[in-house]
Amino acid sequence: MQDKNLFLIGMMGSWKSTVGCKLAATLEMEFIDTDDAIEEINEMKMADIFKEFGEKRFREMEKAFFIEKAKQPGQIFSTGGGIILRKENRKVLQNCGICFFLEASPQTLADRIHNTTKRPLLTDSDNIEDRLKTIWNDRSQLYINSAHHIIKTDNLEPPQVLNEIIKILEVHIADH
Ligand code: S3P
Repeated sequence: MQDKNLFLIGMMGSWKSTVGCKLAATLEMEFIDTDDAIEEINEMKMADIFKEFGEKRFREMEKAFFIEKAKQPGQIFSTGGGIILRKENRKVLQNCGICFFLEASPQTLADRIHNTTKRPLLTDSDNIEDRLKTIWNDRSQLYINSAHHIIKTDNLEPPQVLNEIIKILEVHIADH
């Protein structure tokens, strides 16, 4: 897998970072969390980036970072939930590696998300599940269109999601 990138996409709370980090350790590949990288570059927390620059500017930074970084193969990317909003990012997801969509219902996601201070899109919501439903309705097709593989995670724990990905990769290796 060292000659390809692996991308994890999905909504907030879909375990992209938890699973991506373990996957990288298992496969001995470099792990990139796009949110962490953008926070590091700006020396600011996500909430402050949104407050100071706004969502539009964040999306520009996210796109610039992602497109440049994905040129190098052999990395595992845990992407921010909104990565699929930009067409240029979707092209990279489809063409520069293998893209896994970690799917979960808004209800499951709401149950998993305990801290919204790290997630500016949810911070001011009275009802996280309703907010997630709205975001999901806007994005579901974009996630599906960007992914090579969809893993339904509602009834899984992170180690099982990891196993699903590894099983799929084994088939890829056998086929190529
Ligand atoms: C966002 C998801 C966040 C982060 C930002 C915007 C989104 O990442 O990029 O708050 O638009 O869904 P996670 O999916 O890792 O929480």
